[in-house]
Amino acid sequence: MCGIVGYIGDKNCVPILIEGLKRLEYRGYDSAGVGIINSTECKVLKTKGKVSELEKLVFAEQIDSGLGIGHTRWATHGEPSTINAHPHLNKDKTLFLIHNGIIENYLSLKKGLEKEGYEFISETDTEVLAHLIDHYLKLKNSLFQAVRYALNEVEGTYGICVIYNGEKDKIVAARKGSPLVLGIGNNENFVASDVNALIAHTKQVVYLEDGEIAEIYKDHFTTKTIADETIIKEIFEVEVGVDEITKGGYPHFMLKEIMDQPDSIFNSMRGRLVYDEGISKLGGLQGFEERIINSKRILITACGTSWHAGLVGEYMLEQYAGIPVEVEYASEFRYRHPIITKDDTVIFISQSGETADTLAAMKEAKKKGALCLGICNVVGSSIARESDAGVYIHAGPEIGVASTKAFTAQISVLALITLLLARRRNLSLPEGQEIINEMRLLTKKVEMILKQNENIEKIAGQYMNCKNFLYLGRGYNFPVALEGALKLKEISYIHAEGYPAAEMKHGPIALIDDDMPVVFIATKDSVYDKVISNIQEVRARKGRILAIVNEGDEQIENMVDHVIKVPKTHNMLTPILTVIPLQLIAYHIAVKKGLNVDQPRNLAKSVTVE
Ligand code: F6R
Repeated sequence: MCGIVGYIGDKNCVPILIEGLKRLEYRGYDSAGVGIINSTECKVLKTKGKVSELEKLVFAEQIDSGLGIGHTRWATHGEPSTINAHPHLNKDKTLFLIHNGIIENYLSLKKGLEKEGYEFISETDTEVLAHLIDHYLKLKNSLFQAVRYALNEVEGTYGICVIYNGEKDKIVAARKGSPLVLGIGNNENFVASDVNALIAHTKQVVYLEDGEIAEIYKDHFTTKTIADETIIKEIFEVEVGVDEITKGGYPHFMLKEIMDQPDSIFNSMRGRLVYDEGISKLGGLQGFEERIINSKRILITACGTSWHAGLVGEYMLEQYAGIPVEVEYASEFRYRHPIITKDDTVIFISQSGETADTLAAMKEAKKKGALCLGICNVVGSSIARESDAGVYIHAGPEIGVASTKAFTAQISVLALITLLLARRRNLSLPEGQEIINEMRLLTKKVEMILKQNENIEKIAGQYMNCKNFLYLGRGYNFPVALEGALKLKEISYIHAEGYPAAEMKHGPIALIDDDMPVVFIATKDSVYDKVISNIQEVRARKGRILAIVNEGDEQIENMVDHVIKVPKTHNMLTPILTVIPLQLIAYHIAVKKGLNVDQPRNLAKSVTVE
């Protein structure tokens, strides 16, 4: 979703803004712009399309200034176009605003402003806010107060930055529902929608909370609430290094992140396994274990890939910890008036920790008194900060829009939570130790799968022109079927559906012919024989079959067109291995089709609006 970056200091802001916007490109966007103010001019440059286009425009102007803001827009109100791109301006072209979020009451605000003679040139909700701030600027004669008064009238979500020619010594930034972080430098300060845009310049950051407004000067900053009360903010040190947000020699972030998985899975477990006791140790849950163990029910809520990880978590927790679990899309959970009690534990899974639906679901669950746990990747993200307790997955920055290493690390953390709860309930020491042994072997087993990359690429070549795919799995591999299908549709734009294999007979079987490849995830588990029957049913209808099977499985190999083999592991850890070939298949098909793998069309890395 929209990316925000701002700079104030002694350096020329232009290269800093452009570099920051490039680091935010992974979030997904369709247009970009900068607003720059110096002693002689106020300049806004915007374009539809890529930051590289904006870069050409901006450098051609040879502007030099120590104050500027930049934005990548992901269209919500109004098509992607230069006019709709940010910054938006007041009539005098002296005030520039960039915004991430949605002003829900923009139409009524617009009507009021039109009555006062304000005119609008774009279709956006953001332009309304620019004029509303201008309206209050005329009344209050202070940018900070104008922003504050305007925001008091706004319903919806925002992360905004404003600069004004009349007050060139500051950027005013505010947040409600859309992330904003200040970067504290030496005689220079920054602001951005995520730390990736800042870490080349500073590791010292301040996270703004909802309802907070900051005045950022080059040598200090102040923060107040929207009600005008001063607040003192803590400065944090971020650990992410610049090398972690570069491609490291790989052609795409997605491939780098798939290949990172031996490390990311290892990091998600590091220091958390206690073999002698056959249990896991999760510092982030300390003090909350009893309440979780005694929960009448665990709810897991998330979106997209994180929701698929949640489904795996449901199977694990019910099978081994014996606690009833329900998994729900965060977007549905927030609106359907769910029955939640103080005896429930609700787990929110989010790579970014900023997904608007998941965050809103958490607010709902908190209101009802449930214990809220976050499973997040991005340290310091909103969900991580606002949950009662939680566990970081420590997968490292995930830049490719299609989530890969976060998924396997989320499952690994869910396995750790399962182990903790199960051991405190019924799981025996040897069973706990067996799980730990298998968790420790995962890194090697993932490496063995990644070594098959070339072969997987060849297989991908044989399927790249297919128009539809069906992914089928049972038990722990049903969520993997959903995830495999999601990966393919996201980055290759091929229609793909995931189904529980047994459900095929209840409808999707009608689709099967020699044009419809079926991907079976068919590892040797308790439903193996049943999946073989499903494979036979597809064969009988001349469907092409690619199967993910365990090493040594010759039975399926002799029945299908292609197999990719993965090592055997503990049944609840199977998804960590079986999903990897599916990530690679999706990746190679998209690359072979010449598509933009890291920034697929219409998608955003972190969905910070509803
Ligand atoms: C899929 C994907 C999305 C995200 C979803 C939730 O590859 O990336 O489906 O999983 O938008 O995002 P987070 O986990 O950041 O809440």
